[in-house]
This record gives sequence, structure tokens and C-alpha cells, in this order.
Amino acid sequence: MSEALSVEAELEARVDEYIATQSGLDLLRFITCGSVDDGKSTLIGRMLYEAQMIFEDQVTALRADSKKQGTQGGEIDFALLVDGLAAEREQGITIDVAYRFFNTDHRKFIVADTPGHEQYTRNMVTGASTADVAVILVDASQGVLTQTRRHSFIASLLGIRHVVLAINKMDLVDFDKIVFDDILSNYMEFARQLDFKTVTAIPLSALLGDNVIERSRRTAWYSGPTLLGYLETVEVRTAQLEHPFRFPVQWVNRPHADFRGYAGTVVAGAIRTGQEVRVLPSGEVAKVADIVLYKDHLDSAIVDQAVTITLDREVDVSRGDVLVAADDPCEVSDQFDASLVWMDQEHGFIGRSYWLMLGTTRINATLTEIKHKYNINTLEEMSSHEFELNEIGRVTLSFDKAVPFEAYKDCAGMGSFVLVDRYSHATVAAGMINFALRRAKNVHRQALTVDKEARAKLHGHEGKVLWFTGLSGSGKSTIANATEQVLHARGICTYVLDGDNIRHGLNKDLGFTDADRVENIRRVAEVAKLMVDAGLVVLTAFISPFRSERDMARALFDADEFVEVYLDVSLDVAEERDPKGLYKKARKGELPHFTGIDSAYEEPETAELILSTKDLSVEQCVERVLELI
Ligand code: ADX
Repeated sequence: MSEALSVEAELEARVDEYIATQSGLDLLRFITCGSVDDGKSTLIGRMLYEAQMIFEDQVTALRADSKKQGTQGGEIDFALLVDGLAAEREQGITIDVAYRFFNTDHRKFIVADTPGHEQYTRNMVTGASTADVAVILVDASQGVLTQTRRHSFIASLLGIRHVVLAINKMDLVDFDKIVFDDILSNYMEFARQLDFKTVTAIPLSALLGDNVIERSRRTAWYSGPTLLGYLETVEVRTAQLEHPFRFPVQWVNRPHADFRGYAGTVVAGAIRTGQEVRVLPSGEVAKVADIVLYKDHLDSAIVDQAVTITLDREVDVSRGDVLVAADDPCEVSDQFDASLVWMDQEHGFIGRSYWLMLGTTRINATLTEIKHKYNINTLEEMSSHEFELNEIGRVTLSFDKAVPFEAYKDCAGMGSFVLVDRYSHATVAAGMINFALRRAKNVHRQALTVDKEARAKLHGHEGKVLWFTGLSGSGKSTIANATEQVLHARGICTYVLDGDNIRHGLNKDLGFTDADRVENIRRVAEVAKLMVDAGLVVLTAFISPFRSERDMARALFDADEFVEVYLDVSLDVAEERDPKGLYKKARKGELPHFTGIDSAYEEPETAELILSTKDLSVEQCVERVLELI
């Protein structure tokens, strides 16, 4: 009885001790990059096994599986342990990163394991975004490959500063020092262009265990650390404690009239009560009155802590504002240079606008320029008008208001963002801010004396846009033209902007790719805006196939100025009409990117008027339009 008790007590004491050590351990996050063939799964499997993070029943199952399907002649095949998820991943539409947790007596680890192929770039980006170290695997018998370079580039772009070049399968090259040295010098030639602080090359055999945890006797020439030894001791970025204080406000907590607190997480630095903070973008200054954590009142808060801050006086603070050190604020701008990783099947286009989520704010952002895309295998810069899935490039983004931010390399929490599609709400891109662009600062709007109202008075009516959209052959030009005649006869100042006409002049540099159509509509919308400002009733006749751009056009105008008219005909009807013989050509393959055939038309969801031009005469259509306005 007493013996049982003491065993139990001892066990309890050991559990307590274990928990105490574990919680005191610091955490290293790393990512492993390489394809399955490099032995990545075997390496991770072995680390988990040797760190004894695999449960007994898993080991038993693994032994059995290894005998059945393993590639190691009945020995434990560690790859089987890790590759279980691979099949699921192959079909994955979601961004899948397998995170594994393990620990040794010295550290806790989180490994992000991502598939190696180019089509999984976005997965790697997701995994790398929180990693301190990248373990880049190279097969010693293959040397540095294109994908070694790609993985390194992405790691560098995402701000990882420490790299392990894990030169694996050394057993295949007889643990030859010359092979190892060659691969390392080859790699360094490339890595010099990147932003790494340290590159540590380790000769390994994940299969046999050499230099993974135990130092190998077969690499007597190697005096560096083992892989786990390195991971246990590498000094990485300390959480950004030294950085000036940054606190994006997540929500304003106002339970009753006497309390007004700003809740959020400290993304950099520290703050004490009594210190001054500046509210950005407004610039107002106040002192920290209290720092609240549940029911406790703290003297200070540091990076990563989620707290509620109260200030000593009433200032205007709302969600998305950032509280910063008063004497060391960050920048505020409405235009950035940024690096972008495209993560969506839908392409990204210059001129299109997206929601941009930065910290706790959501703003409208337009992709105004693609400076270049990278060939991520060679680092060559390529020019382009659009982004495809997994592509990486350097861009300019402009917003409809100024926001506080910091360069990603200085403060990841203040410089990383995602772009979100306004309709599908899918995350389409991840980005890192490089620096603010100030060009817009030196261009100010001129106040002119004769304004829109004055011009409306002179004309006797206000300006307006009738935005006709629909397939080629739906009747846009015909109905716009007929409507204009009636309006003109009534003494109204009008103008028709017609696709075929504008494409002879202003837009003669544009074709019919998606990217060109986006730009076509952007320019037309801007011209229409000027014309409405001038007091005209503008009728536009463009296919304008994309919702994003029609809504972008709408957003340029006051609510009652913009009327979207959808000329709704089926493709069959339009094709039968084929007024210019273009459908025929398109069907023969002589006209690529033809709307409705091999280029998309997105039906309006917000049109003020839908006209079925199959059932209505031109006169009836005109009548409906006139009724509406
Ligand atoms: S939009 O898609 O960018 O809005 P827009 O209305 O300017 O197109 O131009 C469409 C007109 O260009 C059509 O009415 C047709 O006469 C002509 N056209 C020539 N090639 C194409 C094409 N590939 N797709 C659609 N229209 C084309």
C-alpha cells in the first residue's frame, strides 16, 4: 500500500518536473525544404523517433508497415511515418502545411513540413512565414538543384536569416569530403545574392542516422554540429523586444461609459503605464493610464502579450489604428512597394482592386504596377501584366487611405499583409512591404472655381453614367446609340463611349487578354468620370466582362450617378446574331480570347436594370432605360 503510494507520488513529482522543464523551454520554429526524394520525410521521421515523440503503438504500426511496404528491407522506414499525409496533400486545394511538434531537453520545436514542388510555393510561403530557421535538403548524389535555389530564395524573401544546408545521403557518396565541399561552394555562390546571416552545411545520412543526432564516425573530417545539436543551440531572432512599441488595435472595448480600452496584441516592443503613445494615422498623443489583462492591472506589456490599454485622455481611436511609441513612431503611407506571392487560381491583374488586410485593418488596395515577376528558379526578373498561382513578384499597391506600417524586414508584424478577393473572399496573395512610395505626396488636387454643380446648372441637368454591359452582340452599341438620340433630342448633353471606337484611339495599345480588358475598363471608367464631372450623360458600351472592374467603375461615382444596365442574352442568341462575324471566326479558332467562347463573362449581380434583348425591341429597351433615369 505504502509502496504503491510512493510510486504514485514519485510519478506525480516526475510529471510536475517534466511540465516545469517543458514550459521553461524556449521554442524554435523551423521549416524543412526539399522533395521527398531528398530524404526529407526520412529526416523528420528520424528526428521525431529519436526525440521519442512517436508513441509506442505508432512504432509498432510503423514496424509492421515497414516490413510490408517499406523501402528499407524490413528496417524501420521513417518516410512512411511522415508521408501518410502526402496523398491527401496532393489533392489539397487548401494551403496545407503539416506542423509537427517535438522537444528535447533543451528546446521545443515546431517543424513546418511543406511539399517541395513549384506548384506548392504558396504552401512553402505559409510554412516559412513564421520560421526562424530553414533546413534545406540537398541530395549529395545530385548536388544543388533548381529547387534548392527556389526554396532558398523564398526562405530569404520571407525573412528567414539562418539556413542549414542539410547535405543528405552522404552514404551514397562514401561520405566524401570533396563532394560535400563542392556542393557547399556551389551553393554559396548562389546564396551570396540572398539575405542570410548564417549558412551552416551539415553532412548527413538521414537513413543511417549520421550527424542527425549522433555524431558520425564516418565524417571524421567534419567538426561542425549535428543537425539536432545545431537546432538546439542556434541563436535566433529574439521576439521583437528591442523594437519600438507597436500595438495594432483589434477592437475598442467600451463596456460602460466609464471605461474605454483598446484591445490587441503587442506586435513589437514593450510599454509601461505612464509612457506616451502616439495614435496612428491621426498622430494624437496620450499617456498609457492602465494595462489590463482580464482582471489584473499590469505595469507593463511586452511583445506577444494580448492586453487592453487605457489612455489618460479622450482620443479618437478605432479598430485598425496603431498605438506606437510616441518618440519612435512608424511610417504612414497610401502607397507601397511590396513583394507579392500569388496564391489563387484566379489570376491577379494590374488595375484590379482587392481588400488588403494589414495588421487589424482592412482597406481597399489597387495593384497599380507589377514591376517584375521572378523566375523563382533562376532569380531572373520578367515583366508581366498579371500574376498566376505560385508566382512571386515585386509590385506597387495603392490604397484609398493612408495606413501605418513598417518594412517587413524591420517588423514582420507591421509589414506583412494578405490580399483578399472582394467577391470570393479567398486569400489571393501574401505580401511583404518593402518601403513606402511617396510620389503621390507631391501631387495635390487643384481646387477649381467652376465646379460640377456650376456646370450642371449651365446644362440644366446633372451628369450620369449609363453603363451597358453584356456579351458581344447583346446590343450594347445599338441601345446606347438609340438612347442617346432620344436624350439628345431632349436637349441633354450626352456622349457615347463605345468599345470598338475607344480601341481605335485611347486604348489602341490594348488587346483582349484578361489583363488588357481590366486596363481597358479602368481607363474608360476614368474617362467617364471626367465626362460626368464635365456635366455629360455618358453611355458606355463595353463588354466589361468582369465584376471587379464594373464595381471599380461604380466606386468612382456618387450612388445616384452610376446606372448599370445588363443586356442579358444567351450565348446562343448572340452567336446567331453575330453582327460582325466574330463568333464564326472565334469558333474556327481564328480569334483567341473571345468572350463567351474562351474568355469569361461574369454576369452582373448588382445591375440596376436587366434587359432581355431577345424579347424586347430596341424601342422598348430605350423606354425602360429612360424610365429608370
Ligand atoms: S472589353 O471586354 O474589354 O470590355 P470591348 O467592349 O472593349 O471589350 O471590346 C469588345 C469589342 O471588340 C467587341 O464588340 C468586338 O467587336 C471586338 N472584339 C475583337 N476581338 C474580340 C475578342 N477576342 N473578344 C471580345 N470582343 C472582341
